[in-house]
Amino acid sequence: MVVRLRPVTEADLDLFRRFATEPGLIGLDWTGFRDAQAAARRFATDGYLGKEHGRLMVAVEGSETAAGFVDWHETVVGVATYWEIGIALLPDWRGRGIGWRAQTMLCDYLFTHTPVERIEARTHPENIAEQKSLEKAGFRLEGVLRAIEFRAGQWRDGWVYSRLRSDPAPLA
Ligand SMILES: CC(C)(COP(=O)(O)OP(=O)(O)OC[C@H]1O[C@@H](n2cnc3c(N)ncnc32)[C@H](O)[C@@H]1OP(=O)(O)O)[C@@H](O)C(=O)NCCC(=O)NCCS
Repeated sequence: MVVRLRPVTEADLDLFRRFATEPGLIGLDWTGFRDAQAAARRFATDGYLGKEHGRLMVAVEGSETAAGFVDWHETVVGVATYWEIGIALLPDWRGRGIGWRAQTMLCDYLFTHTPVERIEARTHPENIAEQKSLEKAGFRLEGVLRAIEFRAGQWRDGWVYSRLRSDPAPLA
């Protein structure tokens, strides 16, 4: 299966609207209904390629529609910055080796085009697919962030992972 990352197009906005309005489609990150028009406004502003936040579509060769998206946003610490990344695939595309490949490609992209040393990813204690996917993409578990998010009616812990520029690249 050939996976690649590409910029967002207008045709992808429908996928973002679905993630904003279909309960649970986005997975454990569902936190209630969101403004379905926000995606079009953001796309009109910068095509989802801003300086502090960006998004690319995960495309699978032979499929007209995207499998999902990856994104990144900046965190500033003192004089430096690092990226926190995220990913969401549509249910039909999960468990087929796309998630770890897409996150590996996103790291390659960010390490190539930006001077950051650190890329961070957070996930849920019960999100085994994302934990394994991150480890396959070269990330290491750093620890537990206690009560970091309010989700599904209660405060919940998060797990934080990182990959450094100097860490070994995963075997493709
Ligand atoms: C999390 C997600 C990105 C993982 O991507 P994926 O394409 O489904 O996972 P992959 O096929 O790359 O699998 C990576 C590893 O996880 C394992 N895995 C995949 N789904 C699994 C599941 N449901 N349970 C246990 N292991 C699973 C795979 O077997 C593989 O490990 P292996 O090589 O040892 O066999 C994807 O499932 C998704 O988009 N889920 C919904 C949104 C989400 O949870 N995003 C992350 C929020 S923090």
